[in-house]
Amino acid sequence: MHRRDRIHIRSMGDSDLLSVADLEKDIFPHPWKNQDFMSEIRIPNGFSCIAENNSKLMGYLCARQMADGMEILKIASHPKYRKQGVATLLMEEASRKAAASPWPVLFLEVACNNTEALNFYRSQGFIPNGIRKGYYPDGTDAMNMMKHL
Ligand SMILES: CC(C)(COP(=O)(O)OP(=O)(O)OC[C@H]1O[C@@H](n2cnc3c(N)ncnc32)[C@H](O)[C@@H]1OP(=O)(O)O)[C@@H](O)C(=O)NCCC(=O)NCCS
Repeated sequence: MHRRDRIHIRSMGDSDLLSVADLEKDIFPHPWKNQDFMSEIRIPNGFSCIAENNSKLMGYLCARQMADGMEILKIASHPKYRKQGVATLLMEEASRKAAASPWPVLFLEVACNNTEALNFYRSQGFIPNGIRKGYYPDGTDAMNMMKHL
């Protein structure tokens, strides 16, 4: 069962960078580094937030407001806290921000073999918007997905 009341969403700040980069390392084969997250929280059109419970990091999201909508660059939940609504709450936070912009659209790229993420994005109402053949370094295709808010 989702216990949303235990998940607190807030902006990512300097004091979160170490723990975010640590979690990133455990999740992604080609992780962003501390410095990458630092750039994201400083870039003027950036939007980065974290999910936490009692100061424990549960997940994070990085996005950028572009001319044609908000691009979701990263979203991840701590493996211990998956299927509890963490990523849904992070996506809702990004959606609120994007919905208030002149171009209320979310878009992203996801590896075609990332079943968990594909299921998650579908659950959030994203629809496929084209395939990029061999987009990733290992030759995996990427799927573009989008959601009109
Ligand atoms: C994809 C990911 C962000 C989902 O995070 P999460 O916090 O577990 O997602 P939620 O709990 O909000 O899930 C919402 C819905 O997404 C779908 N979903 C999420 N994980 C799923 C899974 N493993 N299998 C099937 N459906 C899944 C379900 O419909 C779920 O609703 P339900 O719990 O009522 O069934 C998480 O699995 C993750 O961090 N994966 C590794 C990083 C990654 O691949 N990020 C995306 C890169 S493009």
